[in-house]
Amino acid sequence: MPDKLDKIIESKKLLLPILTEIQDRDGYISEDNVRQLSKKTKIPLSEIYGVATFYSFLTTKPEGRNIIHICNSPSCYVNGSLNIIEFIEKELGIKSGQTTEDKLFTLHIGSCIGCCDKAPAMLLNGEVHDKLTEKKIKGIIKKCRS
Ligand code: FES
Repeated sequence: MPDKLDKIIESKKLLLPILTEIQDRDGYISEDNVRQLSKKTKIPLSEIYGVATFYSFLTTKPEGRNIIHICNSPSCYVNGSLNIIEFIEKELGIKSGQTTEDKLFTLHIGSCIGCCDKAPAMLLNGEVHDKLTEKKIKGIIKKCRS
């Protein structure tokens, strides 16, 4: 028979998969989602909110249809990620963490996505795009807009 501590450990192990599921279902984790989850699991609001805001792949606000995560870790950085970031920001008219007015794009600048040998790299809706150039970015954005 699990004691109280086992139950707490079990509920916290499930927190990340539950939040991921909520985001997959709703597109983001709302304040209402956090409150309901806290009520159901008895995990404090602050703890759930802490997890929901800690991981870069989770979001607590609605995002655009196309979500860009550009890597700015060392390998990408030395291969020109800052120029790529600047170019994308200019093309989309937004900064990291923002969504375009037409709700087509959300931009995030983050850490390594595991494609260091093909830097600079980014994820677009979870799909890897590497060896980025301004020409490649233009094509990707154009395809998303069509
Ligand atoms: S440093 Fe950019 S993908 Fe690893």
